[in-house]
Amino acid sequence: MAVPASRPIAVRGPALSFTGDPFQDGLDATMVHESDAIVAMMDGRITHFGPASLVAPQLPAGTEVRDYGSDALISAGFIDTHVHYPQTPMIASHGAQLLDWLNNYTFPTELKFADKAYARDIAKLFLRENLRNGITTSCVYCTVHPHSVDALFEEAEAIGLRLAAGKVLMDRNAPAGLLDTAQSGYDESQALIARWHGRGRLLYAITPRFAGTSTPAQLAAAGALWRENGDCLMQTHIAESRDEVAWTKELFPDRRNYLDVYDHHGLCGPRAVFGHGIWLDDPEMQRLHESGAAIAHCPTSNFFLGSGAFDIARAVAKARPVRVGLGTDIGAGTSFSIMATLDAAYKASQLNRQSLSAGHAYYLATRGGARAMYLEDKIGSLAAGMEADLVVLDMRSTPLIDARMNGARDFAEQLFIQMTLGDDRAVQATYIAGRLAYAKTPGVV
Ligand code: GUN
Ligand code: ZN
Repeated sequence: MAVPASRPIAVRGPALSFTGDPFQDGLDATMVHESDAIVAMMDGRITHFGPASLVAPQLPAGTEVRDYGSDALISAGFIDTHVHYPQTPMIASHGAQLLDWLNNYTFPTELKFADKAYARDIAKLFLRENLRNGITTSCVYCTVHPHSVDALFEEAEAIGLRLAAGKVLMDRNAPAGLLDTAQSGYDESQALIARWHGRGRLLYAITPRFAGTSTPAQLAAAGALWRENGDCLMQTHIAESRDEVAWTKELFPDRRNYLDVYDHHGLCGPRAVFGHGIWLDDPEMQRLHESGAAIAHCPTSNFFLGSGAFDIARAVAKARPVRVGLGTDIGAGTSFSIMATLDAAYKASQLNRQSLSAGHAYYLATRGGARAMYLEDKIGSLAAGMEADLVVLDMRSTPLIDARMNGARDFAEQLFIQMTLGDDRAVQATYIAGRLAYAKTPGVV
């Protein structure tokens, strides 16, 4: 652990966690809700999790127990499987669909990252927002500039975060100042992998932005890079908007479908995280399933850009389930709040005539995200031995939520109220590697 806790501490209160995948095995078999739990932590890991009555007598002498009370909810930290930190300053830029939005807002903003000091300022802002929203791990796009990756990893390392990130690869269809080449992108990524991958809790994600901004030569170089560094993640965008799908078909006329553009170049397999995937067809879903690749569902972004409503029930269908995590996709996404993202995920499901339960939604925000990133043995749930990244929610964070909670009949209703009405105000505390990294009320843990 990068920042070990110096002495045993524990948090007490109601707690929620998952032991498996409720989409496959049902909530009864996979969701753990304790009305009064203790999570104890030492040296960056969870040492105990269970009912307070059972755990309290087992705690080492001198353990400080922080009692958050019966209106709290302790959970594994939230996981954002798709986000662009350089787009933090351009969140809420009005008026375009994906391809215009990239040209009009995104690329001009990313050009500013030629300045490392600027990159560092934005990395700090981004990580502060993550902690304020209970996000303890994310899978992050940087810009084409290698130092944009250094800036983020340096700041993440100082906090002790588990975080995956990578330098964007783009060698066409973007401003000259944002282009690399197949060779320079390969070389720079290789150097970043050597510097950062596996250092403390940090992981490298090989990051071809999407098919539209990479030549076949660059995709082949990214595939070679991933073959040579198989335990890195790989992240890119796929089938986000219909115009993008049509454009990709023009650029790669020989490929069977959009996924085949990546697959052909060795860019599909375990630890691949594909952003969006709204317009994937059945053979593409089948291939994602077989290969163990994941989709990052980014509902606030999909609504903001008018891209569409991702059908999560179809993606996780029992016949050929695909791994799915949740993404804020800042800055096309409109909120750092995972609760706001869950609210949008619920509405995306509704538009597909399905209704996402709150339990399933919280799974996506925690263990589901960890599974999408092949990290479920380390993060995403509360259990002895797991890394001690936690969020403590306040279930009565606004007057309206407080009033509404009085009418909630059971825990499922309480959770649903949180995901529909909650936001950053509901995040009371965030723990990273067993250490308090954010408290809503300073001085009050
Ligand atoms: N597709 C390619 N690049 C991007 C990006 O930065 N944001 C989103 N939402 N989609 C993309
Ligand atoms: Zn994105």
